Amino acid sequence: MRGIILSGGLATRLRPCTKITSKQLLPVYNRPMIYYPLNTLIKAGIKEILIIVAPERAGDYLNLLGSGKEFGVKFTYEIQDKPTGIAEAFLIGENFIDQDDVTLILGDNIFEDDLSEEIKNFKAGAKVFAKKVHDPERFGVVKFNGNMRAEKIIEKPKEWISDYAVTGLYIYDNKVVEISKNLKPSDRGELEITDVNKVYLEKGELEVAVVENEWIDAGTFDSLLRAQILAKEKLQDKLLI
Ligand code: DAU
Repeated sequence: MRGIILSGGLATRLRPCTKITSKQLLPVYNRPMIYYPLNTLIKAGIKEILIIVAPERAGDYLNLLGSGKEFGVKFTYEIQDKPTGIAEAFLIGENFIDQDDVTLILGDNIFEDDLSEEIKNFKAGAKVFAKKVHDPERFGVVKFNGNMRAEKIIEKPKEWISDYAVTGLYIYDNKVVEISKNLKPSDRGELEITDVNKVYLEKGELEVAVVENEWIDAGTFDSLLRAQILAKEKLQDKLLI
């Protein structure tokens, strides 16, 4: 299993804080934000991690994280020239992924749950994680049938279909690279991760698990504040790095 952290984008919603650095390097209590998703991958035993960053911020990441030796892992870096979609990570990361399975995590996603076993026990297809939220229109949303099997998945639905947001942690087998190569950009001009998940859903190979505890996409000032509190009150003794 290989790991990718997608940590690009311009984070205009967090201006002026992101005028001189990347959102995913802002402090979340006593660590840079990216340490939390890094913990998720490192705890799962992943040793090879690709960090995808925006060109303007690459130096900051190298200075902060270096080779990975300090954490007992190996970091590889790639540049995403423009934030043209989460699924682009699999095109940028094609050589890095090689023949392996891959876990992708967004650099601003913070999980209270320990998902190590889910990552270690992954066999094939795709596995993603959902969480009930009060503002599903901000996310990729999954509708379950009566047996809690995923039935439908939509990116930022205009009409309500479900309260379950798809979180920013995705585990895929090697088919994800070919699937991503065949995607067409969406109306917002992005290669959508939701479109990747739809392909697996149509094949009957998409598993969706519900996370029990808190999950935060720290991309707004309010969610960043919540992330700080979660980190201070619940995460300190669970972190490896
Ligand atoms: O947080 C989970 C949500 O993330 C999912 O529910 C959605 O299905 C998924 O599309 C995504 O929605 P967002 O609207 O939050 O995506 P956003 O454009 O804000 O990007 C999420 C993170 O990924 C952000 O920290 C920046 C980074 N990113 C994003 C894109 C599109 C990149 O590094 N490169 C990109 O091209």
